[in-house]
Amino acid sequence: MAELSMDDLMFRPGLMRGQRVLITGGGTGLGKVMAEACLMLGADVYIWGRRGGVVEDAAKELMDAHGGKCVGRACDIRVPEAIHDAMDEIWADGGALTGLVNNAAGNFISRTEDLSPRGFDAIANIVFRGSFFVTLDAGKRWLEEGKPASVVSILTTWVWHGGPFTVPSAMSKAGLNVMTQSLAVEWGNRGVRFNAIAPGPFPTEGMSARLNPTGQGANEAPKDPMTPLNRNGEMRELANLAVYLLDPGSAYVNGQTIAIDGGGHLRGGGFSRLAEWGDAEWEQARNAIRSANEKDRAQRTV
Ligand code: HXC
Ligand code: NAP
Repeated sequence: MAELSMDDLMFRPGLMRGQRVLITGGGTGLGKVMAEACLMLGADVYIWGRRGGVVEDAAKELMDAHGGKCVGRACDIRVPEAIHDAMDEIWADGGALTGLVNNAAGNFISRTEDLSPRGFDAIANIVFRGSFFVTLDAGKRWLEEGKPASVVSILTTWVWHGGPFTVPSAMSKAGLNVMTQSLAVEWGNRGVRFNAIAPGPFPTEGMSARLNPTGQGANEAPKDPMTPLNRNGEMRELANLAVYLLDPGSAYVNGQTIAIDGGGHLRGGGFSRLAEWGDAEWEQARNAIRSANEKDRAQRTV
């Protein structure tokens, strides 16, 4: 089902006319809603995923709802040759991309000691290696042709504070964070800029099935205690940020990773639960601290 209407978007109609955007993993979840926003604003949109039927159906559904051009194609980003062939098709279909969203990912919660090497690879091969292969294939073309482009990678806030029980994902996303910073500098003066988005919880089918499999995880709507705003993200909020970073209107923004998590990652450390305290708890705490201070003071000799 299409998710957005023009009222959800912050931008004028036609903003992205003439732009050509590839979104990996664009057949579902956050990738699909970013594809939808770009399509609605006039871009030609390409979406890849391993399940050909899913991306083809999504492309059709989005075009039925909004018109425009959206092409769904099976492509496994773990395979550099498959990426190269699919990228050839895009270039042959209308020229250079102007934007790339590295969105495809794999993830599941697991105690790290329970992971097998293949379990680690299942995630790292998609997120860490696959996203790099896609970026490299498109990047070589942009540099050779002297074409400008904007690359946006979808990370997680775990790149700043770690991701216990999701270590392969957190490690892989952290690698992409460093890729963003590195290539922003290396390729920036040739017109290819790099930014990233670190979303907090945006419940999607793919995410919920792997990170909240019993329905009792920390990401449940509507009141996630890790989110100061006491709510999950809304799809349109993510879509607006992605459009902003893809569009030349943000051309001076380069090498940045922007959290869209209601400030969740800033709560970090051990005190975040204190947000749940009321007046009684604070009064009790203040009294306890005062009495500890008084006891210490009574022992002072100077
Ligand atoms: C431990 C597991 C496991 C689990 C799989 N494995 N699931 N190990 N716990 N829950 C191990 C398997 O045992 C196997 O190792 C190896 O991983 C490969 O498993 P396959 O099922 O063959 O993998 P594959 O078919 O390649 O599928 C990849 C996948 C799958 C990553 C495992 O989940 C997938 O396709 N995901 C795509 C979509 C997705 O994950 N979306 C969520 C994104 S949400 P052995 O040794 O046994 O052979 C997200 C949110 C972040 O990132 C932030 C939220 C706030
Ligand atoms: P999702 O719907 O499961 O999206 C993942 C997509 O990646 C799927 O469409 C999947 O399609 C595709 N994919 C996986 N492996 C691939 C491969 N080898 N080649 C090509 N495509 C592949 O989950 P989501 O929640 O929308 O997540 C989207 C992105 O947001 C991910 O990067 C995720 O880490 C990030 N994120 C999500 C949240 C959240 O709360 N939802 C929070 C933070 C970050 P196929 O299975 O058909 O290949």
